[in-house]
Amino acid sequence: MRSAILLAAAAGLAIAQAKPDVSKGNEVFDEQCSGCHYADREDRKVGPSLKWLFVKDKLDSNGKPVSEKTVLQVLNGGGKGMPSFQKTLSDQDRADLLAYLKTL
Ligand code: HEC
Repeated sequence: MRSAILLAAAAGLAIAQAKPDVSKGNEVFDEQCSGCHYADREDRKVGPSLKWLFVKDKLDSNGKPVSEKTVLQVLNGGGKGMPSFQKTLSDQDRADLLAYLKTL
């Protein structure tokens, strides 16, 4: 009985963690991305502005249509001055970041 309750609690936690959190994404952005990207204006910093990212049709860097998939490709793959975040971000960080980037 006790273990069933623990299991249910653990499952609840897993679900809670899987839900993207915009404010956590904002924190990750401030720590890891804001040195090279503006989120609040359209100027280029080291990399292209990420303001309106998910409103735009195409990525500035490679002309691909903007989607979770193509943004994750850039995030994980890096290249041309953009570091690869494949190993340094958790899946949760990535989900939180995407949720945040969609608000820009
Ligand atoms: C050291 C500087 C640097 C850091 C840190 C950095 N980026 Fe970049 N980023 C770049 C550069 C430079 C490019 C352009 C690459 C190119 O032209 O192919 C880029 C491109 C991008 C693009 C494609 C934008 C477009 O319109 O094509 C996205 C999305 C992006 N970065 C997200 C992020 C996120 C999210 C983080 C934090 C986890 C981050 N970047 C951290 C330098 C950086």
